[in-house]
Amino acid sequence: MNYMLYASLLGLAFASPHPRQDQRQIQWGSCPDGVPDGLNCSKLSVPIDWNTPGSGTIDIEVAVLNATNPEKRLGYLMLNPGGPGGAAIPLLIAYQRGSWYFSDDLREHFDLIAADPRGVGASNPISCSPDLWNERVILVPGNQTAFDSTVDYWNSFSKSCVNATGPLFGHVDTASAAKDIEALRLALGGEQLNWLGFSYGTMLGSQYAELYPKNIRAMVLDGCVDHRLDGNAQILSEVVSYEATHGKFFEWAAQNSTSALYNQTPTPVEIWDEVVSRASASPIPAPECQDVCCSDVSYEEIILNGQEMLICPSSGFTELAQALNDTHYSNNASLFSTPLAVRGNDSAFGGQAIQCLDWQPHQSTLDAVLYRQQAAEWLGPHVRGLCQSLQVVMSCLGWAVDRVDPPRRYNVSGTPNTVLQVNALWDPSTSFQWAVGLNTQIEGAVLVTRNGSGHTSYEGRGEASRVMDRYLVNLTVPEAHFVVQD
Ligand SMILES: *[C@@H]1O[C@H](CO)[C@@H](O)[C@H](O)[C@H]1NC(C)=O
Ligand SMILES: *[C@@H]1O[C@H](CO)[C@@H](O)[C@H](O)[C@H]1NC(C)=O
Ligand SMILES: *[C@@H]1O[C@H](CO)[C@@H](O)[C@H](O)[C@H]1NC(C)=O
Ligand SMILES: *[C@@H]1O[C@H](CO)[C@@H](O)[C@H](O)[C@H]1NC(C)=O
Ligand SMILES: *[C@@H]1O[C@H](CO)[C@@H](O)[C@H](O)[C@H]1NC(C)=O
Ligand SMILES: *[C@@H]1O[C@H](CO)[C@@H](O)[C@H](O)[C@H]1NC(C)=O
Ligand SMILES: *[C@@H]1O[C@H](CO)[C@@H](O)[C@H](O)[C@H]1NC(C)=O
Ligand SMILES: *[C@@H]1O[C@H](CO)[C@@H](O)[C@H](O)[C@H]1NC(C)=O
Ligand SMILES: *[C@@H]1O[C@H](CO)[C@@H](O)[C@H](O)[C@H]1NC(C)=O
Ligand SMILES: *[C@@H]1O[C@H](CO)[C@@H](O)[C@H](O)[C@H]1NC(C)=O
Ligand SMILES: *[C@@H]1O[C@H](CO)[C@@H](O)[C@H](O)[C@H]1NC(C)=O
Repeated sequence: MNYMLYASLLGLAFASPHPRQDQRQIQWGSCPDGVPDGLNCSKLSVPIDWNTPGSGTIDIEVAVLNATNPEKRLGYLMLNPGGPGGAAIPLLIAYQRGSWYFSDDLREHFDLIAADPRGVGASNPISCSPDLWNERVILVPGNQTAFDSTVDYWNSFSKSCVNATGPLFGHVDTASAAKDIEALRLALGGEQLNWLGFSYGTMLGSQYAELYPKNIRAMVLDGCVDHRLDGNAQILSEVVSYEATHGKFFEWAAQNSTSALYNQTPTPVEIWDEVVSRASASPIPAPECQDVCCSDVSYEEIILNGQEMLICPSSGFTELAQALNDTHYSNNASLFSTPLAVRGNDSAFGGQAIQCLDWQPHQSTLDAVLYRQQAAEWLGPHVRGLCQSLQVVMSCLGWAVDRVDPPRRYNVSGTPNTVLQVNALWDPSTSFQWAVGLNTQIEGAVLVTRNGSGHTSYEGRGEASRVMDRYLVNLTVPEAHFVVQD
């Protein structure tokens, strides 16, 4: 009898499409080997499918770094690094090792919480065929045969994930991950949520806010994604933003003495164009790559991996200048090479699975791809109309599971406090346009503009970072249209 009662209560809790306050409470323990001292870890069981009772469960891995001043503690601050597919626990590990930044103010007032999203990191990572993943597929097919083989390729790859992962593969969408956050908030005792989300973490945060606005004390969205945009609008705006940030890089690379391309002829932009056209004729060798990255580099990989480098202006600008110098003068494209997947649960797969549930194009044809690509190349001539969103859209063609969370407007209202957004003007990934678009979907949200380049702003430790600290600690919100210089 007792067993029956217990089973039906458990069934009841999981039958609900929304998490409920129940007896499940997080019990902190030690972390797995390799995690530095000072962190504690735990697991939270969540249903694979929030809408289907009896669909089975998976564990979400959670880590905490306790507030340094328990008397001043304001609550839990949950972190998400973006991606999609980025694991959160590595942020706390990196902080403990001195290679990530959280201010002393945040450390004093908050228990920092990192939960790897479902399908990502230590939370039942998505598994697929690494051998298939490591094959090179062209991003922009130019004829029907190439288009069909792109679709077939992604169909086979996604089937390898269905086989290796099971039903979770169709349930790593953003709305499901947002419900996990609510389950975690409840299991931590039900205090109001504080959220610091970077990049895709802004989309996860906004989705959470749409579902559970009243449960939020403070929410920072740094480097904003606008899920209203579908394929074409998303790609074209990102290309414009990447091209513009590239322009900032070319100026820097010619004028800053730490740049490998400082004060040279040919100029940085001429070197970039030369390298890209040479690679489009045939891939350039990457002699440093053995087993862990691709042994040569296509022009598409140079452009996409170059976009990644621009995310962090302080180290990324230097790296891109070095990569261009190596490739132009020494035919050595090692720094541009794409990492290879070496395990069945490679970290790339979770992001791929999430993005196809959220952004899979409804339908597409060669004609539509070529039409869009022509516009993208006009708008972004140096980056040849390529960007991460294009990769997202093309790599979800032929996907074995349907999208469940397609592009749409979020409708966030009723948060007790203002939501704070931050975006740089020259962000190579999340266009400032996206931040403005998201701003219209969150009632009362205030968008702070950083007059600079790079993707996300907290790590920069400048004025933007202090604005976020003041908000998270004291709920101080700057005036609308506030601009910071760093
Ligand atoms: C938390 O982790 C530390 C090591 O980082 C360990 O000494 C401590 O016992 C853990 N606390 C609990 C409640 O397990
Ligand atoms: C963090 O605080 C919890 C209780 O609040 C305690 O069990 C745990 O050991 C603390 N962790 C560390 C590393 O001190
Ligand atoms: C990922 O795969 C490796 C090698 O197969 C395995 O050792 C590891 O436990 C897996 N990680 C997780 C979190 O499942
Ligand atoms: C189609 O495109 C592929 C990839 O760019 C190319 O290798 C192939 O020669 C093209 N086929 C035709 C018939 O043009
Ligand atoms: C299915 O996955 C298993 C391992 O889980 C693997 O051995 C097998 O090769 C996979 N089959 C296909 C068709 O991918
Ligand atoms: C750039 O390439 C030139 C020509 O090979 C070389 O002399 C110079 O040392 C390189 N600069 C850097 C910073 O690697
Ligand atoms: C040169 O670039 C470095 C790295 O981005 C930066 O720290 C430094 O301030 C720049 N110097 C000047 C004079 O702009
Ligand atoms: C290629 O470039 C990398 C990165 O700058 C460098 O470490 C390596 O020594 C270079 N290799 C050769 C063969 O020049
Ligand atoms: C947004 O949500 C609010 C509160 O739930 C509701 O009143 C409003 O009608 C919604 N707006 C749209 C456009 O759906
Ligand atoms: C942005 O910075 C530039 C200098 O880098 C300056 O000329 C411009 O006035 C600033 N714009 C705003 C809105 O602060
Ligand atoms: C929060 O407000 C208090 C009181 O005004 C102030 O002393 C403190 O510096 C503020 N904290 C932050 C992070 O702005």
